[in-house]
Amino acid sequence: MTVLADTAVAARFPVLAEREDVVYLDSAATSQTPRPVLDAMDDYYARHRATVHRSVYPLAAEATELFEGARERTAAWLNGDARGTIFTKNATEAINLVAYSWGRANVGPGDRVVVTELEHHSNFVPWFVLCKEVGATLEVVPVDDEATLDLDALDRVLAAGGAKVVAVGHVSNAAGTINPVADIVRRAHAAGAIAVIDGSQAVPQLPVDLAEIDADFYAWTGHKAYGPTGIGILHGRCELLDAMPPFIGGGHMIASVALDEVRWAEPPGKFEAGTSAVAEGIGLGAAVDFLRELGMASVRAHEHDITAYALERLVEIPGLQIMGPRDADRRGALVAFTLDIAHPHDIAEILGSRGVCIRAGHHCAQPLMKRFGVGATSRASFAVHSTRADVDALVDGVHEVRRIFA
Ligand SMILES: Cc1ncc(COP(=O)(O)O)c(C=O)c1O
Repeated sequence: MTVLADTAVAARFPVLAEREDVVYLDSAATSQTPRPVLDAMDDYYARHRATVHRSVYPLAAEATELFEGARERTAAWLNGDARGTIFTKNATEAINLVAYSWGRANVGPGDRVVVTELEHHSNFVPWFVLCKEVGATLEVVPVDDEATLDLDALDRVLAAGGAKVVAVGHVSNAAGTINPVADIVRRAHAAGAIAVIDGSQAVPQLPVDLAEIDADFYAWTGHKAYGPTGIGILHGRCELLDAMPPFIGGGHMIASVALDEVRWAEPPGKFEAGTSAVAEGIGLGAAVDFLRELGMASVRAHEHDITAYALERLVEIPGLQIMGPRDADRRGALVAFTLDIAHPHDIAEILGSRGVCIRAGHHCAQPLMKRFGVGATSRASFAVHSTRADVDALVDGVHEVRRIFA
């Protein structure tokens, strides 16, 4: 019996309740949506729809209250500050906001920006572009054979001086590695750099305490955390947000506009130009409530159990190689693997024909694929609704692939 099984979590996801033919093992790509999130968005559209922050009639005040309430609950859930909690389109936009707005103002020729071999392209490409544009050097911290970061290499880069930014993922979407982000933030600060953490894979599955991690910026994305698509979050240190120029200009992000002078609004409005994704923000607030109600310690314990079981079962399969840490304590709720006799896309297709939904590809982590000498892997990822029976379906499917290709 796994930790969350008694709460009949799967029944709260309409797709899973209605589609008995689906074994959904792709939550690291995007999670399924629980009923309370759909209800919260429906409630906004059906009963409270108006634009936010602008009008004073009751309907608009209700919409603003729902939207701002979602921000406050999201910040409080992660022990963050609502003023420094910015709604973005997704994690990609959140990280680009930092790279463009803070980066262009603070990184110059000869400076160093430090990333790692584990990064999703969202936490690699914006820094690559910044470095090219301003003449800074991009330093890449390597990983060992279990896709664990080489922190001595990080220290060597930082000791060389000139580091302005250390940008690291909390949990790798491609290898599953959980990085010691609070420790990395301390090392970055000791070297005079800011720390930017990509928490896209961490927020849905680990207890995250922003005050404890103490990053300058922490980005994540709603659609992997049981929220809707089109909404992400950037938590930023308020002093930095106050000093930064805006990212995008337009309505809502200003205090005043004259022909010869524009003054910015206070954060978070300063970084939320244009009409907000209102329903999506409200939906994300409901996703946060859903996770808070389950309890992140229980979520982690459940997914740890499923991941440990998957690791144990998958190693039975001849010719199968798992990428990333060997034990579930050091990895998030996913297992990426290769099989000697079949391409990841063929594996995903055969599994798909059996209803088992996994992802195949480079997972937007091509530097990591190159490090391990592969073009792609197959990845099964788990969520609050996953069961050991789902893992059995995965393993049976991979055995079938072996039979077909042998
Ligand atoms: C670790 C990580 N960072 C960033 C992202 C980007 O998320 P989004 O496409 O929602 O911006 C992903 C999505 O796959 C991810 O797994």
